Amino acid sequence: MERLNWGLIGGGEGSQIGPAHRLGARIDGLFELAAGALDANPDAGRAYARTLGIAAARAYGDWREMLEGERNRPDRIDLVTVATPNHTHFEITRAFLAEGINVLCEKPMTMTVAEGEEIVRTAEGSGAICAVNYGYSGYSLVRHMRAMVARGDLGKIRLVMAEFAHGHHADAADADNPRVRWRYDPAQAGVSAVMADCGIHALHMASFVIGQSPEKLSADFASLVGDRVLEDDAMVNLRMSGGTTCRLWTSAVALGHQHGLRVQVFGEKGGLSWAQEQPNQLLWTPLGGRTEIIERGGPNLSPQADAASRVTVGHAEGMPLAFANLYTDLATAIAARRAGQAAPESWCPMAEDGLRSVAAVHAAAESARADGAWVDARPPMYR
Ligand code: NAI
Repeated sequence: MERLNWGLIGGGEGSQIGPAHRLGARIDGLFELAAGALDANPDAGRAYARTLGIAAARAYGDWREMLEGERNRPDRIDLVTVATPNHTHFEITRAFLAEGINVLCEKPMTMTVAEGEEIVRTAEGSGAICAVNYGYSGYSLVRHMRAMVARGDLGKIRLVMAEFAHGHHADAADADNPRVRWRYDPAQAGVSAVMADCGIHALHMASFVIGQSPEKLSADFASLVGDRVLEDDAMVNLRMSGGTTCRLWTSAVALGHQHGLRVQVFGEKGGLSWAQEQPNQLLWTPLGGRTEIIERGGPNLSPQADAASRVTVGHAEGMPLAFANLYTDLATAIAARRAGQAAPESWCPMAEDGLRSVAAVHAAAESARADGAWVDARPPMYR
């Protein structure tokens, strides 16, 4: 495949997620980091872009300058990743999509459901691809879980349990940490903190693995540290589109939990369990049988798992390689469009997935405000 030009917005020096994008996008040699507006501070962004090898003319001070600069270039960026704080995603993503530039947007895709619907419509209107970085869905064994569920190994899926509970915002002194502050500030984070930040991943993973979307839910939010207004812990019960019950716990105060993302699927013929901190092993327990460890890269895996696996069995693969699988999906889709061919089936999360999960976060906040009342979790455009 021809190497594509890639742009990055946000992900500046010291950011949490920038390095994983830079590794993931470039590991297969499919993308070259050609342009960037990397930091809220224009000078810092330009300077850091230069250290990453971006040409001075394409080391931009902000995303508007970048859009202006890239718009008419013959070698303009083929894909831009939006890795800025949540409240900026909508404006940036919409502007690049409207220009026909493909976008990989960080989660949550937007702050409101109406904005999410607008992104879906903008992408449809411009023909540009809009993907959302639910990067954990790129893990080989997560794709294998989805394949096992889809081919009926578990039979009817009764229950999916998803949790993303970490302990890294358990200290009230974090109120002064700029990387933590925006996550709990309603002006910057919107209606939800940990549910929008982490619970949304757990929710997407549950949806992705069983191939169902949230229909209705009941939520309990708690703010447990200092004088935080937004929740730092949430428990949500959901009913999914295929009738499966989903239970979700997300937290930022679970001291001792490091990353804390785990998904368990229970069907009538067996159960699966996978955790992000041991991503190369998947536990499979058939009804009446022993628990078996399925190793990434091992024999008899699904084609989707094999395609998402790079190093031989026994060598650890981790999160940047999961992100890389989304980038590979996107490079394949972009190349197919260029060749005028239909894009191959892809499991890369798209704007529709971004919208459905944002709608569920808003529904959870609404339910929590109403003492756990059951509410519709679907975005209006999909009701
Ligand atoms: P962070 O606070 O560590 O870094 C944000 C970066 O964006 C900084 O370099 C900052 O200077 C830059 N920035 C802020 N406003 C900007 C603007 N207007 N233009 C250009 N750059 C700007 O935040 P973090 O944790 O890296 O999160 C960024 C996004 O990634 C958030 O939406 C977050 O939810 C998401 N995220 C996704 C993860 C995943 O697994 N998919 C994991 C962690 C974060």
